[in-house]
Amino acid sequence: MKTIVLACVFLFVASSSAALHCKHGELDIPTSWIDIQDKCVKSMKEQIKEEMKASLQYMAMAAYFSQDSVNRPGFAKHFFEAASEEREHGIKLIEQLLMRGKLTSGVGDLFRYTDLKPTNLTWPSGNQALKDALILEATVTEKIRGVIKVCEDVNGVNDYHLVDYLTGVFLEEQYTGQRELAGMISQLEKMEASHGSLGEFLYDKKLLG
Ligand SMILES: *[C@@H]1O[C@H](CO)[C@@H](O)[C@H](O)[C@H]1NC(C)=O
Ligand SMILES: [Fe+2]
Repeated sequence: MKTIVLACVFLFVASSSAALHCKHGELDIPTSWIDIQDKCVKSMKEQIKEEMKASLQYMAMAAYFSQDSVNRPGFAKHFFEAASEEREHGIKLIEQLLMRGKLTSGVGDLFRYTDLKPTNLTWPSGNQALKDALILEATVTEKIRGVIKVCEDVNGVNDYHLVDYLTGVFLEEQYTGQRELAGMISQLEKMEASHGSLGEFLYDKKLLG
């Protein structure tokens, strides 16, 4: 054993080629611990795509409000942060599948999607962008509920752990985020009602912190 390890270390050090690694036969790891159902995995992968798509949609919003001709750095900051959060959600879901022994044969099927393009690229106002964001979040919430529905009953098998995570962590974030967006729209509309278009300028400063 010791000699094999030493030989491997030697081969690794001696070679500058990244392609070289120590050969081993087929791994013989019991698979009975992998109890997540295929239908549930498929639904999770769809959701990972949705999170990535939401991330790109927020990137489009952030880029739009960053332009010199629009110049709303506060809105841009908010949407760049939202894009990062969505990306983080995608990572969290990937981690769930990794923990459950899925994705071990590669992540290629996660990156086959071609429909990640943002639906909208321009917005008439910051207010409209926040409203679109709230609608987007409501759609994502509905889809997470769909994943829960699949994973809590695949031919009578309830994936208690995953469903608990999606319900307690993911839905919690969705509802908190939606409430925050609704509050933001409310405040912005009040400022616009009393200050006209100056309202958006002032709210942008507030978002910038
Ligand atoms: C795109 O714009 C339409 C019309 O304003 C809106 O109804 C829809 O929610 C928007 N979609 C996204 C993802 O922002
Ligand atoms: Fe998300």
